[in-house]
Amino acid sequence: MAKAKTAYVCNQCGAEHTRWQGQCAACGAWDTLSEFVVEPATAAAGKSAPKRSGYAGQETARITPLTEVALQIEARSLIGIGELDRVLGGGLVQGSVVLVGGDPGIGKSTLLLQMMGALGARLRGLYVSGEESLAQIAARAQRLGLELGPLHGLAETCIERILEHAQAARPQLLIIDSVQTLWSEQLAAAPGSISQVRETAARLVRYAKESGTSVFLVGHVTKEGGIAGPRVLEHMVDAVLYFEGDAGSRFRVLRAFKNRFGAVNELGVFAMGERGLREVPNPSAIFLGTHSGPTPGSAVMVTREGTRPLLVEVQALVDASPLANPRRVALGLDGGRMAMLLAVLHRHGGAAVYDQDVFVNIVGGIRVQETAADLPVLLAVHSSFRDRALTGKTALFGEVGLSGEIRPVPNGEERLKEAASHGFERAIVPRANAPKKSHHGAMEIIAVERLDQALAVSF
Ligand code: TYD
Ligand code: MG
Repeated sequence: MAKAKTAYVCNQCGAEHTRWQGQCAACGAWDTLSEFVVEPATAAAGKSAPKRSGYAGQETARITPLTEVALQIEARSLIGIGELDRVLGGGLVQGSVVLVGGDPGIGKSTLLLQMMGALGARLRGLYVSGEESLAQIAARAQRLGLELGPLHGLAETCIERILEHAQAARPQLLIIDSVQTLWSEQLAAAPGSISQVRETAARLVRYAKESGTSVFLVGHVTKEGGIAGPRVLEHMVDAVLYFEGDAGSRFRVLRAFKNRFGAVNELGVFAMGERGLREVPNPSAIFLGTHSGPTPGSAVMVTREGTRPLLVEVQALVDASPLANPRRVALGLDGGRMAMLLAVLHRHGGAAVYDQDVFVNIVGGIRVQETAADLPVLLAVHSSFRDRALTGKTALFGEVGLSGEIRPVPNGEERLKEAASHGFERAIVPRANAPKKSHHGAMEIIAVERLDQALAVSF
């Protein structure tokens, strides 16, 4: 029998190394490598050797001109939870594997149980839980107001037995909660270790492709430690959805981090309540602060996440710092980007904040990743620094360059429409994004090319 080898795998990105080292060479994270034993090929192959079958199920692969491959339109089923359907790119895809990641307690189990409930008798579902007893799941389903009739559960963590049950019951939807509780008889490692998580997930992916079952894997995001995080699975699955949200807020944002069948960064917004997760049909409203009048340090941006525009408030607090190294805290946006913007504000806006603490927060606990946030962030900082509110009800978007120029961003027209529909009086936007008309409905559009112009018209 071949000798077992040892490999070191990064908890963050899943990269494999032959030696232990303090920093992962692939993603740069520190102290994230864990050792695991690579099962010799003969043992892993064992009795359930993976068939080398493609999606069509042929025994050996052959080279095929793509024109000969019948175009199979992926079969989709609408779940009926609009925000979830949107994040998945238009419903559930048959035979796809979706990883749902997020902090413990954020609502992953609740969402998936509600999904199974919404599909009801339309799609045979099986909820496999390694975390809760069937009685707990049934009690939760009842509290969520789901009809229990079509729901089926299985409390099992051994992958071989789960697959046996699945092959007998032939569910069309298989939910695994969570992948970190699974283990395979063929591996000696503990459940939750990287080798178990990867092997069991790989078996489920293979099962999904061979049987056409849609599989949802729950993965807890973990701080570095003994348990493998969902990141090690990202490359194996078709879609990765992350559940985000403030611990203190009842709003939850589901973000498509990767999706082979839809747009990435697509957002679904939910509110956690007494009876589980409820969709938020008009999410712009919840990301706007509730100020009674103009407030210094506040600016509203029109961001575009996935395929829809969203109005989100940016708040900044700039205050004289008692520290030699003033604090720079960015919540919901990239810290490096903020440092760059502060330098631009100094050079091209004439505002020196080097002796000030600067805090910037995106309201509602969402993360903004696009450059259209530059102009609103800068204006919020400037507004707090000067202690003057932006005049009127103003919406903003635009990228800011290092030489103080305001650059256009994609989908300007759509963003303007969203702002106008929420009753904004003015929009300050990059010149190239501004339409020929000076108004969009009742909203005035002010086009700017440089940061100093934007500062002049904002206050
Ligand atoms: P859960 O789905 O168990 O989280 P995860 O699977 O991601 O660990 O959600 C647990 C939290 O949600 C828990 O703090 C209780 C809360 N919750 C509600 O507020 N209302 C509800 O109807 C349900 C089912 C849960
Ligand atoms: Mg759970």
